Amino acid sequence: MKKILVTGGAGFIGSNFVHYLREHYPDYQITVVDKLNQQGNIENLASVRNDIEFHEFDLIEESKLAPLFEKGFDYVAHFAAETNVDRSIENPDTFVNSNVLATNILLRLSRDHGVKRFHHVSTDEVFGSLELESNDKFSEQTPYDPRSPYSATKAGSDHLVRSYFHTYGLDVTISNCSNNYGPYQVPENIVPVFTLMAMNDKPVTIYGDGKSVRDYLYVLDHCRAIDLILHKGKAGETYCVGGGQEQNGIQIADTVLSILGKPESLKKFVTDRPGHDRRYAIDHSKLSRELGYEPSVTFEEGVRQTIEWYKNNEAWWQPYMKDFYVPEFMKKDVE
Ligand SMILES: NC(=O)c1ccc[n+]([C@@H]2O[C@H](COP(=O)([O-])OP(=O)(O)OC[C@H]3O[C@@H](n4cnc5c(N)ncnc54)[C@H](O)[C@@H]3O)[C@@H](O)[C@H]2O)c1
Repeated sequence: MKKILVTGGAGFIGSNFVHYLREHYPDYQITVVDKLNQQGNIENLASVRNDIEFHEFDLIEESKLAPLFEKGFDYVAHFAAETNVDRSIENPDTFVNSNVLATNILLRLSRDHGVKRFHHVSTDEVFGSLELESNDKFSEQTPYDPRSPYSATKAGSDHLVRSYFHTYGLDVTISNCSNNYGPYQVPENIVPVFTLMAMNDKPVTIYGDGKSVRDYLYVLDHCRAIDLILHKGKAGETYCVGGGQEQNGIQIADTVLSILGKPESLKKFVTDRPGHDRRYAIDHSKLSRELGYEPSVTFEEGVRQTIEWYKNNEAWWQPYMKDFYVPEFMKKDVE
């Protein structure tokens, strides 16, 4: 029986991964640590709550984290991070604490307690921005060029993770993935924001000219990729994870509105995010070649499944509607 610590397991991707582990590795002993910030929600784990050990605290609190390592974890899957780019523009300090300092504590404890593999979940945003018109893609060879406080702190944590491999011999793997969407994503990200706005006949707010492009990865494809890397990836290696589905803001709005049967007139163009990267695209051929990964869900199919989930889980998302997060730079557009 393996023991795994999942940090950030009450967040969007982390909770999907905990459900995935329960289904595919029923004998694993799962411990989750999550501080339950605006994105963390213990309800995400409601159906597995009795099968896992859950601790609510900030990873920066080493005195609470250290005793858990006495269990002798085989694996650490590190999802915990402050993740909202717009919030990072407003308050970078929290991002440095959670994404860099807390990651170092976790790495040090993993090193000192003989963790067999530390998997770090990171982002394609560390690579900067691509030209809209180019066919270039990010790969494991792309130099780092982070632009926002969020991506800069994720880049910092990636480097720290690698340094623990080279300096201390800790067995680590890193994945840099594109934009995820799917069940349990709070309405601070584009697919759930557009879905909930459109479902409630409110304006679907598209940043800038709506032409910035991201690659979209259905969260369950991402969980399969992490499973492969965690269990079969090579120590010290980085793997890029993509969904092979490039979409811009206008296309996403059109897909959501069409699936929901809502009018185009709900589209509203608003002020762009400061320093908004123009295009991200991911070449995941290393992961395909070495570990057999292929994304299985097209964007349209994934959005359909996601919308179905939101339709069936109103009790989950309704509380977010009362205190809907609007980034500072967009406030004048929606008042
Ligand atoms: N969502 C995406 O599209 C995406 C894309 C690329 C990479 N990632 C990476 O994947 C990981 C998970 O992302 P997500 O979308 O699930 O994020 P999320 O914000 O939904 O979840 C993160 C979770 O971590 C917890 N957390 C944050 N700081 C913590 C701390 N200091 N101590 C304890 N818990 C803490 C939060 O409470 C939250 O539950 C992150 O590392 C993120 O950088 C996400």
